[in-house]
Amino acid sequence: MTAEPQPIEGNLTRASIFLVLTVHDGDASLTTLRALLADVPALVRAVGFRSFAADLSCVVGLGSDLWDRLFPGLPRPKGLHPFKEINGVHQAPSTPGDVLFHIRAESPGYCFELASLLMGRLSEVSDIADETHGFKYFDNRDLLGFVDGTENPNGRDRTAAAIIADQEPDFTGGSYVIVQKYLHDVAKWNAIPTERQEGIIGRFKLSDVEMPDAQKPSFAHNVLTTITENGVEVDILRDNMPFGSVKNGDNGTYFIGYACDVTRTERMLDRMFIGEPPGNYDRLLDVSTPVTGSLFFVPSADFLADLPQ
Ligand code: HEM
Repeated sequence: MTAEPQPIEGNLTRASIFLVLTVHDGDASLTTLRALLADVPALVRAVGFRSFAADLSCVVGLGSDLWDRLFPGLPRPKGLHPFKEINGVHQAPSTPGDVLFHIRAESPGYCFELASLLMGRLSEVSDIADETHGFKYFDNRDLLGFVDGTENPNGRDRTAAAIIADQEPDFTGGSYVIVQKYLHDVAKWNAIPTERQEGIIGRFKLSDVEMPDAQKPSFAHNVLTTITENGVEVDILRDNMPFGSVKNGDNGTYFIGYACDVTRTERMLDRMFIGEPPGNYDRLLDVSTPVTGSLFFVPSADFLADLPQ
């Protein structure tokens, strides 16, 4: 029987917090972490029950090194490894991460409350490598002005894209997730004429309608991120969020992509950064630079509730 997944396929909400932690050395840290992981659903209930409209959820991902520390000698998910840095026309760095909390809600207060409770339990045994508070922008647009998320799979296709079924019998209900924090040079982007921007994305800016294939440049984002397996198009599930600070001027897109097979996301990244064919890279990367990159396995909810000893 397929194990119950974590709430990966949850609704795309108006607010989120992405927390990436590194866990201190030593068995005591792992004991504290294990206890917390089993309690995450209870903490989500404690905060989220106050308002169903808040639609609070939390997905937990575990990094490759941490997996080996937690479960030495046990089978490991076949696609779990540290994020592979890419040195193409543009660079995608690999940055540390043992635990990912992907917290989503309709209102930021719920995300904040849950993040505070999680860190109340983990602050002595971990460091926060990155904390990003995401928000939905007008019309679900990213800060570059394009609607982001339209072509996400829905219904059965969504489950098939994100959740491991019979590919890995030991890990059904699980998923792989890659996160990258991209900083935009908005001024540089805004200096590009709209028609050229539309070619870079492969969609019309105002209407969000996809360009006819014949009109798309070969380097359009939606050309390079469309991949096939045995001639059939295959998807990932994205829940990118804009974030920003007016104080330091850092703003951008927090990319998050779930997949039942992590090589899908990795192929998309290679096509974006190295190009397809090599050199024909994603022009988004001329104005948007990833400053983090981490890969996690997202075990099923059943696995988390009853962690192997
Ligand atoms: C589509 C923005 C990074 C995979 C899109 C679209 C936008 C967008 C505006 C079109 C609307 C939609 O279908 O969602 C961005 C921005 C990024 C980024 C601003 C970072 C700066 C990535 C990365 C990947 C990716 C790193 C994969 C590794 C996809 C896919 C689609 C898509 C699969 C749908 C293509 C299709 O089927 O038409 N993205 N994206 N994106 N993006 Fe991205």
